[in-house]
Amino acid sequence: MKIGAILVTSIELVDKVIVEKLSAKITLNKFVRKNKYIGSKDRKFLYEITFNTLKKYYGLIDVCKRNNVDISTRNLVLLNFFNKFKNYKLDDLYKGKYSLNKKYEDLYIYTRAINYKKEIEPKLPDWLEKKIINQSESEKKSLYKSMLSEPRFDIAINTKKYSREDVKKKLNKHNIIGNNTKSSLVGITINDRIPNSEILKIKKNMFEVQDEGSQLMTLLIGVKPNMKILDLCAGKGTKTILISNLLKNEGMITVYDKFMQRLEVLKKRVKELKLKNINFNLQNKDSFDLVLCDVPCSGTGTWRRRPENIIWLENQELVELKVNQTNILIKAAKLCKKRGRLVYITCSLLSDENDLQIKKFLKDNKNFTIINIKEDISKYFKNNIFKFSKYGLTLKPDTLNTDGYFISILKKFA
Ligand SMILES: C[S@@+](CC[C@H](N)C(=O)[O-])C[C@H]1O[C@@H](n2cnc3c(N)ncnc32)[C@H](O)[C@@H]1O
Repeated sequence: MKIGAILVTSIELVDKVIVEKLSAKITLNKFVRKNKYIGSKDRKFLYEITFNTLKKYYGLIDVCKRNNVDISTRNLVLLNFFNKFKNYKLDDLYKGKYSLNKKYEDLYIYTRAINYKKEIEPKLPDWLEKKIINQSESEKKSLYKSMLSEPRFDIAINTKKYSREDVKKKLNKHNIIGNNTKSSLVGITINDRIPNSEILKIKKNMFEVQDEGSQLMTLLIGVKPNMKILDLCAGKGTKTILISNLLKNEGMITVYDKFMQRLEVLKKRVKELKLKNINFNLQNKDSFDLVLCDVPCSGTGTWRRRPENIIWLENQELVELKVNQTNILIKAAKLCKKRGRLVYITCSLLSDENDLQIKKFLKDNKNFTIINIKEDISKYFKNNIFKFSKYGLTLKPDTLNTDGYFISILKKFA
């Protein structure tokens, strides 16, 4: 494909994702599947340009505003392209049948982009930036920079049956190289991106696809054999399966999700793995030793994976998410046994959804207190990978190159 045609395609795809509120990954995958003629090099470039523009969406808008450039998807894609790939000439874009139509303002955008000394950075919209966890300018820069890297591809081993060495050997037979995750004791990072279909053929009962950050959160919950656990927002059950492995078939996990169809993936997997300790039938009178609330949130911690979430997020949606989180916590509090644990997890970096939610919960629920897990954690992990606050801890995406998470662990003492 000529570079102009790749850019035309990228402009269409970015526009589609934004206007129709679609997942960038699914939209790109669908497009590539439909247009099989696109070679692997062009495909890679198309993914890179499209994701990179989406990640830098608000940074690019800022530069447009400061330079009096009209804010259109076409202009954002061009600005980003010339800023990032300075070897191309403007005329390259118009060569070929399916390439870009020349526009008067292109030269101005080209000149601005190549004269912009640094790479334009990703940025949160101003209203969200104010809400991000307390951090210095340099921490903010590091966070933004880390958003540009590709999300890692991690798996969590079924440690009930296999060791990491067993799984790495199996992967090697398929010419797949994996390395142990640095902090999670149950994870492997796969070096190259492997199509899901390929992974499904290999994984059998050996592992699940799970980001190291998500593994760490699950390991921090404090699961002990014979516990009666409620996973109140189980979704597709990524954390549920790891909890089940940690319980080694002892104990019982009851799973629930407001949207029952989301549990179908988990149901299928539970059947495949023949797991006996997962129950899909939550009763109002039940009570649990541990209630996990892996709540729906803004997803600001998963920005590099789903940049479109940041573009769509509006204040009203955040308000609704917070109300839902509060209600989930209220429900969880009722279902938690006396002396039981309530664990709250988000993949958000916004204090509104993290510290401030827990602060409010503790104010309204005087029979709960924070469990300080800092000391416990230091037995298993390097403390400096987490950012501690009065209400919990945050794993920032730029620390281990994972998704970002917040976790708070509470105890019901009366
Ligand atoms: C962050 S996802 C959970 C991910 C899941 N625990 C995992 O590790 O794969 C949040 C889930 O909460 C569910 N949810 C949203 N509102 C809810 C509510 N009021 N009660 C229970 N679940 C809810 C969503 O359907 C979604 O599946």
